Amino acid sequence: MVIKTPPRGWNSWNTFGESVNENIIKETADAMVATGLKDAGYEYVVIDDCWTERERGKDGKITEDKYKFPNGMKTLADYVHSLGLKFGIYSSAAPRTCAFYTGSFDNEFRDAQTFAEWGVDFLKYDRCVFPGSVNGMSRYNRMGMALKATGREMLYSICNCGIENVETWARSVGGNMYRSTGDIGERFSAIAGIAKSQFDLWQYSAPNCYNDMDMLVCGMDGVGNVGHPGLCGDTEYKTHFAIWCMAGSPLMIGSDIRHLRKETVELLTNKDLLDINADAECRPPIVMNVYNGTCPTFFKHLANCRFALAFFNLSDGDGAADFRPWEMGLSKNSGFGFKLREVFTGETFDYVDDYLRFNLKPHDCKVFMGEYVTK
Ligand code: GLA
Repeated sequence: MVIKTPPRGWNSWNTFGESVNENIIKETADAMVATGLKDAGYEYVVIDDCWTERERGKDGKITEDKYKFPNGMKTLADYVHSLGLKFGIYSSAAPRTCAFYTGSFDNEFRDAQTFAEWGVDFLKYDRCVFPGSVNGMSRYNRMGMALKATGREMLYSICNCGIENVETWARSVGGNMYRSTGDIGERFSAIAGIAKSQFDLWQYSAPNCYNDMDMLVCGMDGVGNVGHPGLCGDTEYKTHFAIWCMAGSPLMIGSDIRHLRKETVELLTNKDLLDINADAECRPPIVMNVYNGTCPTFFKHLANCRFALAFFNLSDGDGAADFRPWEMGLSKNSGFGFKLREVFTGETFDYVDDYLRFNLKPHDCKVFMGEYVTK
């Protein structure tokens, strides 16, 4: 399967965990359309862990929990498809999933066939509870081959949580995206920690196989499986989304989109950030000021002779992020400067060829779309 931009969609885990069921999936698919998220490119509706029976059927097939999914996966996939959306499911490269449901190890070809028959378009494939005797690359290659053998195009989402240098082999085993870190929680420390851990690894992310920094917690508002009441608000969500877009990460929403606030929908559909995320050149940002550990500045080349320039305060106190054009190679005597437009406020700078510095509240950011201009 060939994908040219980071996948966008929704995944059940962050909010619903083990309590996922058919009605939730149908209502979520409806909400994807009604909120305008579908129009903004969010197309995959993915059921995470906990959808199977604990044991395989007598015929050896993986089966859905009949209580949670009484009409079966095929009917549910048909419903999702009828809305113009795509249907995703989850399994694990192990006999058991992380929540100890049925995994696909040693049943890869049989399960891939079942998924294809149901009309699955996306497989998130987890790592636990894996047999230590088999290395990650082989375990994931088994399913990579099994998916291809079905003849159906299914996006292959590898969830090896950044271990075993997954970024170096995910592409070889057929992956379209690979989880590069452990699990996110709705805490700014988790968001910032994930971001910092990937500064040196974004270079591996490229079209058709993207660094997946985990599902978004934007708009969870303290509710759900990984929700932490009171720890994140709109400022944290804004910075979280901006970093994921600057990094070109897949954008899998993890909140309950049936009840999103207007502010969250606006954030998740911010056209500039989505354009940055899906930029055709897919370049990792140049990260500056890493030395202070708290207020990095990102410069990202974009297609069509543009760039994005973002200032972050990842600390819990007031801070300032800055930018020295000459350090990037744009000196005053180049004859060029930057024209900037902030993507949240519309604030503009007509010509910048000198030091820029922004005071930022804790966890806040500023993101500019930029182009080169002469005076
Ligand atoms: C792992 C993954 C999560 C989620 C759970 C399900 O922890 O990293 O994203 O899929 O398993 O059990």
